[in-house]
Amino acid sequence: MDLFEYQARDIFEKHGVPVLGGVVATTPEEARAGAEQLLGGRPGVVVVKAQVKTGGRGKAGGVKLARSADEAAQHAEAILGMDIKGHTVHRVMIAAGAKIAKEYYFSVLLDRAERRYLAMASVEGGMEIEQLAVERPEALAKVAVDPRTGIDAAKADEIVRAAGFDADVAPKVAAVLQKLWDVYENEDATLVEVNPLVLTEDGEIVALDGKVTLDGNAAFRHPDHAALEDAEAADPLEAAAKAKDLNYVKLDGQVGIIGNGAGLVMSTLDVVAYAGEAHGGVKPANFLDIGGGASAEVMAAGLDIILSDPQVKAVFVNVFGGITACDAVANGIVAALEILGDHATKPLVVRLDGNNVLEGRRILAEAGHPLVTLAETMDGGADKAAELAHAAA
Ligand SMILES: Nc1ncnc2c1ncn2[C@@H]1O[C@H](COP(=O)(O)OP(=O)(O)OP(=O)(O)O)[C@@H](O)[C@H]1O
Ligand SMILES: [Mg+2]
Repeated sequence: MDLFEYQARDIFEKHGVPVLGGVVATTPEEARAGAEQLLGGRPGVVVVKAQVKTGGRGKAGGVKLARSADEAAQHAEAILGMDIKGHTVHRVMIAAGAKIAKEYYFSVLLDRAERRYLAMASVEGGMEIEQLAVERPEALAKVAVDPRTGIDAAKADEIVRAAGFDADVAPKVAAVLQKLWDVYENEDATLVEVNPLVLTEDGEIVALDGKVTLDGNAAFRHPDHAALEDAEAADPLEAAAKAKDLNYVKLDGQVGIIGNGAGLVMSTLDVVAYAGEAHGGVKPANFLDIGGGASAEVMAAGLDIILSDPQVKAVFVNVFGGITACDAVANGIVAALEILGDHATKPLVVRLDGNNVLEGRRILAEAGHPLVTLAETMDGGADKAAELAHAAA
């Protein structure tokens, strides 16, 4: 899960990373009040920052300096509703203005290929960091981080030395890197990026912008992370599936997929995409693994989600009977169609194989549901489902 900048800011603060005051606003009036609060009646500067989960906000006009609360409200008015790389701005953060002497870059992330973490740092941070990485990669220090020791004092020193920080700021930066490691480790993040990490005119090191990605697989260790989820942005079908404990991912296609076991579902997606090439280019509409149980309730819940997707024109149910044998699955499908009643309106191609397959097929044939077509093979079922989806599209 990617966090908004203001959420990253709060998490940084919790772990002792130096940050500036920040207030979230969804209207120009709230922005004005936030700016008043931060300025506290004194002359000064605040920054109005678009809160979207994409980079390049500054360049897109989503980060603006304001010298008064009125100006902050005006900027908020302009930035709210703005589109930045396909992301609509629903919130801005009003941040206290920093007097920046230097902008640095720091990140730590999961390096899957090397099975460890990777820290990156540069004394030339700021909005041009992507360009820097391409044009002068030597200016971006890359230091491997052993997961067993993390960024301790010695590793932090190694990073600041590799990046070439001046001797007078190096110890302060190293201390902040260790705090950022606390965030990375204790929040189970897979990315912590600070750009810019700044040196202020007063000689302080402050994180002015933060990007944090939390590892969803560790969510069970962090009940507080659930509150960070962006409910508005969640796909409504994915949210409904999650509420029913289904492993569902929405894709951009016309053939709904239900299978059991992640491996079988993944290969079903491939086979359907391939079959679709001969049928107007139809594609799989989702990933849905109903797991080992394949009970009528789970089957009905899964079908219900898939049939609610207006893009879906046909469904391919591809189940391999194991501990839950094919006859139980077939009974599940029949019962699910009964539960769904009129809600089931799209053709269903069912391919069963494995334990008790003959009995399973017999049950489905005998039920003779008008929407159901039986397929003998996975390829044949994929082809039929693609054909039906194309015909109905
Ligand atoms: N609180 C602040 N005070 C003063 N200047 C700021 C502040 N926040 C940001 N800036 C300036 O604005 C620039 C862009 O801000 P920021 O890094 O937050 O957005 P961005 O890098 O454009 O967005 P993204 O990280 O999404 O690409 C910074 O490099 C810094 O110069
Ligand atoms: Mg930035």
